Amino acid sequence: MKKTILIAEDDVNVADGLGQYLKKKDYEVIVAYDGLSALEIAKKEDINLLLTDLLLSKLYGLDLIREIKKEKPDIQFIMMTAFGDIELAVQAMKEGAYDFLTKPLDLRKLGILIEKALEVQVLSLRNRQLQQTLEANYTFSNVIGRSSLMKKVFEIVRQVSPRRSNVLIYGESGTGKELIANAIHYNSPRASMPFIKVNCGALSEGVLESELFGHERGAFTGAVSKRKGRFELAHGGTIFLDEVSEMSPATQVKLLRVLQEGEFERVGGDKTLKVDIRVIAATNKDLWTAVKAGKFREDLFYRLNVVKIDLPPLRERKEDIPFLVTHFIEKFNKKHDLAIQGINHKALDLLSLYDWPGNVRELENCIESAMLSTNGNYILPVNLPAYVKTPSRNEKNIVIQIGTPLAEIERLVYKKTLEETKGNKTKAARLLGVGVRTVHRKALEYGL
Ligand SMILES: Nc1ncnc2c1ncn2[C@@H]1O[C@H](COP(=O)(O)OP(=O)(O)OP(=O)(O)O)[C@@H](O)[C@H]1O
Ligand SMILES: [Mg+2]
Repeated sequence: MKKTILIAEDDVNVADGLGQYLKKKDYEVIVAYDGLSALEIAKKEDINLLLTDLLLSKLYGLDLIREIKKEKPDIQFIMMTAFGDIELAVQAMKEGAYDFLTKPLDLRKLGILIEKALEVQVLSLRNRQLQQTLEANYTFSNVIGRSSLMKKVFEIVRQVSPRRSNVLIYGESGTGKELIANAIHYNSPRASMPFIKVNCGALSEGVLESELFGHERGAFTGAVSKRKGRFELAHGGTIFLDEVSEMSPATQVKLLRVLQEGEFERVGGDKTLKVDIRVIAATNKDLWTAVKAGKFREDLFYRLNVVKIDLPPLRERKEDIPFLVTHFIEKFNKKHDLAIQGINHKALDLLSLYDWPGNVRELENCIESAMLSTNGNYILPVNLPAYVKTPSRNEKNIVIQIGTPLAEIERLVYKKTLEETKGNKTKAARLLGVGVRTVHRKALEYGL
């Protein structure tokens, strides 16, 4: 396909001459005789390259570039300037012009410049498309949530993404911790740098250390060659430490040093390596409880907990369920090449009554299997698993597992009772047989 070049030049003779020349070189050519009409054309037409005079009437060449860049970032620019305007021409390149030529124009040089600039344009387009398909899998838009609880989460994500601060994400299993970590990284200035995930709970102490920090050849039996650790691989980017509460005390010390000094050594090595890293950690256990139990270092806790994101369990934001369901139907229509159009009301009601101990992941699995089991266009109650259809849990019961610390039981009792009384502390006090002031104090203490 022919490439289109827009010439913006107020000297009619020069403009038309150039136009003739470029047409002969097999380009599509449009000519504008002042800056404003050049801008109009650039907005409307599919332009690959703008060849513009610097001192244009009505809209100055530099402003023209700036305006066009806002709407069409992939258009390439070549500036034409009189001999004395070099400084301005350099300014133009800072604004993103590909190059500049001084008048009178050397046409052979111009021809080469145009070819090169057009190659760059193809590359820049391709990069942007790649970036977009990559981002489409992760960005914000894929994290669904309309509830006020999730809106608060999004607000924090939006604020914290551009910054460097470490983030601690807390949430029950399946609430979307990894998804949020992705959103933060891919909305940060580090988006084009590596995003490296490590599950600290899945690996034994020794293996985790050499995963994180790498090892030198011969560091231990089986270390037959030198290996880079995840911290090295994540340099300049973000590392996601999943299940961080499971990290052993020795590894915690090393992690603390990376967070404080950006320094560490490979296992079995003595050379100190430096890295620039942002850490996002996730946990489904209350880290502060682990600190109090002496299982997690307090200093490390403070380093990780610079910004905390609490992901609410799905049962506390059931208003998100319809939106999540729609999202998953679209997702699995694509994945399994289906054409399910939606879910019937009764089925959706059942989903809203269920407690979702496995949170969004459980809902996602449930929708996928429902879609695979239906013959029609809609998900019906019959397509849902039995346990969803017979909600056995009574909302008025509190289920407590053996081994739960008393303090946690107390917190749960206050929380559930306050939920039941819709926050009314006097009612809650009556139900629990304690004074209102006690309820106040406990609510504060437990952050209810
Ligand atoms: N708000 C959401 N919108 C869309 N999909 C979500 C949302 N939250 C979670 N999911 C989906 O649910 C699944 C579980 O999410 P994720 O792996 O992020 O949870 P997690 O908290 O890391 O779980 P675990 O503690 O088990 O590791 C994923 O497939 C994810 O895409
Ligand atoms: Mg996870």
